[in-house]
Amino acid sequence: MKRTNNYEVTSLDMQKQQEMIEAMRSMNEGAKEVKKYIIVTYGCQMNEHDSEKIAGMLQNMGYHETTDKKDADLIIYNTCCVRENAELKVYGNLGSLKNLKKKKEDMIIAVCGCMMQQPQVVEEIKKKYRHVDLVFGTHNLHKFPELLVNAKHSDNMLVEVWENEGEIIEGVPVIRKYELKTFVNIMFGCNNFCTYCIVPYTRGRERSREVQDIINEVKDLAENGTKEITLLGQNVNSYGKTLEEGITFAGLLRKLNEIEGIERIRFMTSHPKDLSEELIDVMAECKKVSPHMHLPFQAGSNKVLKAMNRSYTKESYLALVDNLKRKVPDVAITSDIIVGFPGETEADFQDTMEIVERVRFDSVFTFIYSKRQGTPAAEMKDHISDEVVHDRFNRLVRKINEICAEINRSYLNKEVEVLVEGPSKTDNERLMGRTGQSKLVNFDGDFSLIGKLVKIKITDPKTFSLNGEVVEE
Ligand code: 5AD
Ligand code: SF4
Repeated sequence: MKRTNNYEVTSLDMQKQQEMIEAMRSMNEGAKEVKKYIIVTYGCQMNEHDSEKIAGMLQNMGYHETTDKKDADLIIYNTCCVRENAELKVYGNLGSLKNLKKKKEDMIIAVCGCMMQQPQVVEEIKKKYRHVDLVFGTHNLHKFPELLVNAKHSDNMLVEVWENEGEIIEGVPVIRKYELKTFVNIMFGCNNFCTYCIVPYTRGRERSREVQDIINEVKDLAENGTKEITLLGQNVNSYGKTLEEGITFAGLLRKLNEIEGIERIRFMTSHPKDLSEELIDVMAECKKVSPHMHLPFQAGSNKVLKAMNRSYTKESYLALVDNLKRKVPDVAITSDIIVGFPGETEADFQDTMEIVERVRFDSVFTFIYSKRQGTPAAEMKDHISDEVVHDRFNRLVRKINEICAEINRSYLNKEVEVLVEGPSKTDNERLMGRTGQSKLVNFDGDFSLIGKLVKIKITDPKTFSLNGEVVEE
């Protein structure tokens, strides 16, 4: 983790946080030993980016990052509750910290993020995980410095979770994990209330950041060496609806496309019901907007889509994809799919398989339906047995992988343009980068290529990555 940006403090509340940051910094700078933190993040990019903000605040407070829990003075779990599995992991990890905390009494353990927006979770933590020092939610992340100072001075667990979202807070410092490619929030919350999903309850109602705030952040990033941005929002296609100035997501992309230094613009996630013709046109026209559309369809059957409250049909989804492929021929389409929604029959599942075969996704995140307390789907009848769901899930994943391998094989001997990100994960003497379609490419090359756009000829495609060699110009 590297860099902080220096936004002006914009509100009174942020001034207070700044004071807390400074007080903590002078305390930490006067301490005999460097104070260290670990942040463990679960879930989506939105959470990853929130963790970058927490890291930004901590580093401004004089904390240093460590990877060893035994060494940490502060451990933070930034949690996710989209599926039960993620929640169970958090409980397990919190439990295992009990002994560590006994040995190191002044260690602070904090839990934050989506799970904490659920009252029953907070009750469980209060009851069974008394060694936790601080609990806060998604809506008061910017108040973390103040909460941390208060938690340090309190003998009891400090719990502060805001039930509702407030206004968007600008000016939270960020330490970005990667300098070359980074996340930029463009909106928060979701109004869609898909019946299986907990997000609208944990992240609040949809609200967009002001255009100028986004432009300022992206310009600042470009000046500091960022080449690729990923715009984040639960439903980026409805960007602008809460703003006065009448701008659409496509309009925002056009403006960001003008910013010098930025080479690639990605975004996620797009809801099929809101994907506009204008957005497809922008993808076709704007060179920097990557030809990659993450377009979750969740399920293929119209009956299930209706029960999910997704507001599109199998036919309209396929027509949308056809239009997208026609206007942006090199587009990569990726998706999210849920298997085993209540009432899903084998025939319904075959509709999902049909979409997979027709669209030929470049990659898919596949999920087994997880019952979330408080969502309408949790009350529905006909929950599917584990055995049936796993069988469907395995068949689906097999099909998806077959198609991914076929798509990747079609890259053999083709030249692609790659933004070089750094050493390859599998062999750190090689390099890795991604194409505009987000395909991972490994190749031999000089490390001075990092941060550059380079032409690579694909020589050895694999199922989940491509191997190639630099094309000498
Ligand atoms: N069960 C399984 N998957 C879910 N998702 C959201 N809620 C659930 C749930 N209750 C998946 C959706 C969404 C992705 C981020 O997580 O596919 O697009
Ligand atoms: Fe959840 Fe649906 Fe909103 Fe996505 S669009 S965050 S799946 S409610």
